[in-house]
Amino acid sequence: MAGLTQSTIGRKFLMALSAMFLLIFLVIHLSINLISVFSEEAFNSASEFMGTNPLIQFVMQPVLFVGVIFHFVMGFVLEIKNKSARPVKYAVANNSGNSTWMSRNMIISGAFILVYLFIHLADFWIPTISKNYLGAVHAESDFQHLQEKFQPLWRVVLYVISFILLGLHLSHGFQSSFQSIGARHPKYLKCVNTLGTWYSILIPLGFIVVAVFHFVTQ
Ligand code: HEM
Repeated sequence: MAGLTQSTIGRKFLMALSAMFLLIFLVIHLSINLISVFSEEAFNSASEFMGTNPLIQFVMQPVLFVGVIFHFVMGFVLEIKNKSARPVKYAVANNSGNSTWMSRNMIISGAFILVYLFIHLADFWIPTISKNYLGAVHAESDFQHLQEKFQPLWRVVLYVISFILLGLHLSHGFQSSFQSIGARHPKYLKCVNTLGTWYSILIPLGFIVVAVFHFVTQ
């Protein structure tokens, strides 16, 4: 593990593994939140299950947080190492060839997502933790809490902008993570790219649907 974090290839590999783990988390997280669009009772039951199941609370959630922190810290480390390996900027920016603006600026979209995550955890995760472990009393159900959070237009707009940035981050991150673990064969490349394009559109779109749904159905 220490060896892996000391070489650029190793760091990229670990970065890709943490990215893939977060890609799976997003699918599960979206699926649970989409339930709220179809049934209030089912969403409350799913939330109750997620919030009280010991395996989720004491194993999955800590692993998720380690994965999230690792991904962000490693992203910044890779960026700093890349910059210091090339201290003099090119006179002409290389914006042709394989490199896109997004692929060269993953750190910017990543930093915005980090800010979003702080706001998001304060909106939803902290209230759950304070209810479950700190004895805070909430009269409202999880569904009502969701509806209440998406009442102000500014929060819906902030979330939607964050989801669009998430989509841009994913549009490069998805296929890049596969390349970093060595799945570079031309046979798979087209399939990974197509999958990545759909993933980076559908996942943010799903989150947008949830936020807008709760705003318009108050
Ligand atoms: C409309 C969109 C979203 C809604 C309604 C939503 C809702 C929630 C809720 C209700 C919780 C608290 C769960 C609990 O009770 O423990 C939560 C936690 C969390 N959310 Fe979201 N979320 C959304 C989008 C996102 C996105 C896009 C990300 C990642 C970029 C994300 C990352 C997290 C994380 C890391 C947690 C803490 C871990 C957990 O409790 O599962 N969420 N979210």
